[in-house]
Amino acid sequence: MHQRRVSRPAVAAVVAVLALGGAAIAADKKKKDYRAAAVEVMKASFQTKGQASVDRLNQDEVQATCSQYNASKPVPRELARKLEAAQLATVPYPADGKYLGSWENGEKIAQTGVGKQFSDDPSKPAGGNCYACHQLSPKELSFGTIGPSLYQYGKLRGNSEPILKYTWARLWNAQAFTACSDMPRFGHQGILTEAQLKDVMALLLDPESPVNK
Ligand code: HEC
Repeated sequence: MHQRRVSRPAVAAVVAVLALGGAAIAADKKKKDYRAAAVEVMKASFQTKGQASVDRLNQDEVQATCSQYNASKPVPRELARKLEAAQLATVPYPADGKYLGSWENGEKIAQTGVGKQFSDDPSKPAGGNCYACHQLSPKELSFGTIGPSLYQYGKLRGNSEPILKYTWARLWNAQAFTACSDMPRFGHQGILTEAQLKDVMALLLDPESPVNK
């Protein structure tokens, strides 16, 4: 079984920052804008270390909007549809029209959660960590259930152009279909390269992939 990291140091850092944020807010009751105050504390607490730069705290429009909602206060439907349409419009499709690479490589990418942390070598490719949230190949027994099972994804849906395009766009930028999704925006945020995404596409859609056996 392979290691998949929802990095513990990162979780600890967030908890620490939240604690700090709480203290700062308590100390400064006159400040009305708690949100801005919390962001200030986070920016002051984190330091750029290697590729993990403080810029990561700057939210884009969709992230900033989503931060105003949560499980008990979900993003209103109409606003969600608007965000999704705007995100979908930013998705680039493969210039050569080819969507499927090697499912064998795709399986490796789905298995690894390494990458993008300060301690990772930025010249090496990152992983997709798909198994952290999804069931894929039935051979891998350790998987998370935050996302739906993707077992038999291609067998059930086929390889038509609309399915290829939907799956590509979903991997590129999950916010294009589910505003405020928990799924990483693999292409949009430069986590996976175009070639890696094609390999993951093959894992999902190639009839020879164990996902479709
Ligand atoms: C942090 C959790 C998380 C990770 C990591 C993740 N996903 Fe997802 N994924 C989700 C969730 C949650 C959904 C359900 C829809 C939504 O909320 O976006 C989803 C939906 C999907 C769908 C759409 C399923 C459908 O029925 O149409 C596909 C395809 C998919 N993920 C593929 C992947 C692949 C491939 C990877 C790795 C490269 C991956 N996901 C990584 C959480 C995740």
